[in-house]
Amino acid sequence: MSQREFQHVLLTGGCGFIGTNFVRFFLEQRPDARLTNLDALTYSGNAESLRDLEDEPRYRFVHGNIRDRPTVDALVRECDAVVHMAAESHVDRSIQDASPFISTNIGGTQTILDGVRQAKGDGHDVRMCYVSTDEVYGQLPLDRPDLLFREDTPLAPSSPYAASKAAGDMLCAAYHHTFALDIVTTRCSNNFGPYQFPEKVIPLFVTNLIEGEPVPLYGDGRNVRDWLHVLDHCEAVLRVLEGGASGEVYNVGGNNERSNLELTHEILRCMDQGEEMIRPVADRLGHDLRYAIDAGKIERELGWEPTRSAWPGALEATIDWYRENDQWWRRVKSGAYREYYRSQYGRTK
Ligand SMILES: NC(=O)c1ccc[n+]([C@@H]2O[C@H](COP(=O)([O-])OP(=O)(O)OC[C@H]3O[C@@H](n4cnc5c(N)ncnc54)[C@H](O)[C@@H]3O)[C@@H](O)[C@H]2O)c1
Repeated sequence: MSQREFQHVLLTGGCGFIGTNFVRFFLEQRPDARLTNLDALTYSGNAESLRDLEDEPRYRFVHGNIRDRPTVDALVRECDAVVHMAAESHVDRSIQDASPFISTNIGGTQTILDGVRQAKGDGHDVRMCYVSTDEVYGQLPLDRPDLLFREDTPLAPSSPYAASKAAGDMLCAAYHHTFALDIVTTRCSNNFGPYQFPEKVIPLFVTNLIEGEPVPLYGDGRNVRDWLHVLDHCEAVLRVLEGGASGEVYNVGGNNERSNLELTHEILRCMDQGEEMIRPVADRLGHDLRYAIDAGKIERELGWEPTRSAWPGALEATIDWYRENDQWWRRVKSGAYREYYRSQYGRTK
């Protein structure tokens, strides 16, 4: 497919971490385009993060659930592309209770696909980008640094979260095959950057240290993750949306593998703190050992490569953001961020 810019993008999950960054990135990169953000404002959705865009005519927020078919149908009809990233996203929560993950990540994805299918049936073609994760591939061993996830690596998810995302991948592939829907998929490694909900490891550790609290490190900390700056991910999603071949999957990674222990030491070093701030805690059940991405396809075919993810600079800048925006995360940690929606829109869901 040749490069194509879209006039009106429907983004799902735009009040979450990656969504908030994508809204800003997209409006900046595509000054003539509009974006509608459909978000249910679950615990991880924060409308306050986009408060400054309220008067932006090219931006619209719709408070709604991706499982609500009439809402989805109506919004899909208005747009020429959908970027679907609304999800339950935290592995630990999926281990406590998988139900919301099945409902949103599988049922919600089906609703979006049915909305796109309905629109196509009515003569309105809409391209969809499904934002998936490298976790659908399962885990790699620690003693084989030569192994990387490729797009043709079999899906072998190991957490309920990853299984629900993999089901979304498969539904997208099936709808592309069966109904000839125009769908592209991204599978990205761990993101870091501004506006991340402080239950995830980097903002959790950074905000704990700012508050003088220890950082809880799972097990022996040897599990390895690949870290990508969220804006590099946003750029990859836009690149795939606008130029990816229909039906294709694109891995997105930062070439930036670190064990959780290395990550912890790096954060401690950046924040002038010592090892005594580490508090070992019982390991996550079924904790995947290593994720590592071969992002060669998106580099070769779409000319994307990470430009904002190199450490220590990108990590230091992220830590500075949490230092400078302590009001943002303090309100999230205390739950006060929900008041903004109540005061602004007069009700909660
Ligand atoms: N964070 C990462 O490191 C990472 C890496 C790769 C892929 N991803 C994928 O990127 C996407 C976004 O991740 P994130 O970290 O920003 O997640 P997040 O938890 O910060 O945000 C999720 C957003 O989706 C919204 N949402 C949840 N259920 C909804 C529903 N039923 N209807 C409408 N909105 C709903 C929430 O309110 C929230 O705003 C997810 O699909 C995730 O699987 C994330």
